Amino acid sequence: MRVPKFKIGQFVFERPIWQGAMGVRVSAHPLPAAVAEEGCVGTITSMGLGSIDADQKTFIRVSREALVEEIAKSRDQNNGGTDKTLALNVMGALINVNDLVTTAVDKGIKMIVWGAGIPKDLPQVVPDPSVCLVPIISSAKLAGIILKWWQNHYGRAPDAFIIEGMKAGGHLGFKQEQLDQPEIYSLENILQEVLAVVRPYEQQLGRKIPVIVAGGIYTGADIAYMLSLGAAGAQLGTRFVATDECPAAPEFKQAYLDAREEDIEIIHSPVGMLGRVIKNRFLEKVAAKQVKMNCPYHCIKSCDIKTAGFCIARALFNAKKGDLENGLIFAGANVWRVNRIMPVRELIAELVAGIEASPLELPSTSA
Ligand SMILES: Cc1cc2nc3c(=O)[nH]c(=O)nc-3n(C[C@H](O)[C@H](O)[C@H](O)COP(=O)(O)O)c2cc1C
Repeated sequence: MRVPKFKIGQFVFERPIWQGAMGVRVSAHPLPAAVAEEGCVGTITSMGLGSIDADQKTFIRVSREALVEEIAKSRDQNNGGTDKTLALNVMGALINVNDLVTTAVDKGIKMIVWGAGIPKDLPQVVPDPSVCLVPIISSAKLAGIILKWWQNHYGRAPDAFIIEGMKAGGHLGFKQEQLDQPEIYSLENILQEVLAVVRPYEQQLGRKIPVIVAGGIYTGADIAYMLSLGAAGAQLGTRFVATDECPAAPEFKQAYLDAREEDIEIIHSPVGMLGRVIKNRFLEKVAAKQVKMNCPYHCIKSCDIKTAGFCIARALFNAKKGDLENGLIFAGANVWRVNRIMPVRELIAELVAGIEASPLELPSTSA
């Protein structure tokens, strides 16, 4: 298969590969810059950037300052940064989501990716049409709601959608009964449904609304398969953890290398969603109620502090630092296949070679 270019709004990337956001600094610098340098989309995540020790009063300011610093570091070419376009991912359920979005736009970020929640009024927060707005969705229904609402209220359409399927790492936009019916809620099926919802809007607008797929994409052949079905590109998370440039601690990456298929578990996250993790001692301690809940700033609107059992921001941060006794390890369903840590450049080359080797063809409408 020919490797198609990847167009999002006015931006053209050489390769249809998107590095997913990985919260609480797993996808912090220098990872997004290294991905961008390979002609792909690198994503800075704003989730949990603020010092874990901030308090209720300082949380918003500390998070904002940490985001400004993270953007600057990602761009610092003397220290592994890039001058290429980077995306910023925000979690809709954060209490300071709009502050993070406006701060990033202020600092010149031109691509905002919104996950966990409906970005109903995002065009109001970012009225500048040169900033690409990309909602993460898990169903065609949600795509339809956003398209209609934005058209009616803001005369605007998303610049792309990312479908996060049920095999993704981290929080999932699916209920347990949906996870129990993988053949119905497969990424392929949702992709076809989303493409059908998007098509009339594309015709009306006279432009493409690229649809990107995520969740369980592991090889170039997987990407080629999704491209052949009409996806514009693929977002990967788990594979980017297993790179030299990912700043997670060696212990975190080792947990990826050690994970077997039976070690992967779905948990009820304190934020009110399901999440995919690697089983570890920390989860046993949570189950035995041995973890003390200590919430310094109630950062996530949907987090029920009384019943949560543990602070997810702190647990993810601990894991990222390598304290797995007290940490939660988010991972995708294919993490058991990870057997090597490699440079981003090598990973992208491997994925591109896999796309090129595919006998499948791009749909006739592709760029
Ligand atoms: C460690 C980890 C942390 C993640 N954190 C976030 C996050 O903060 N925001 C988000 O939108 N997605 C998050 N995700 C999802 C990824 O961006 C990506 O869409 C997903 O992992 C794709 O599936 P894959 O891991 O099978 O490639 C996370 C995934 C992992 C593995």
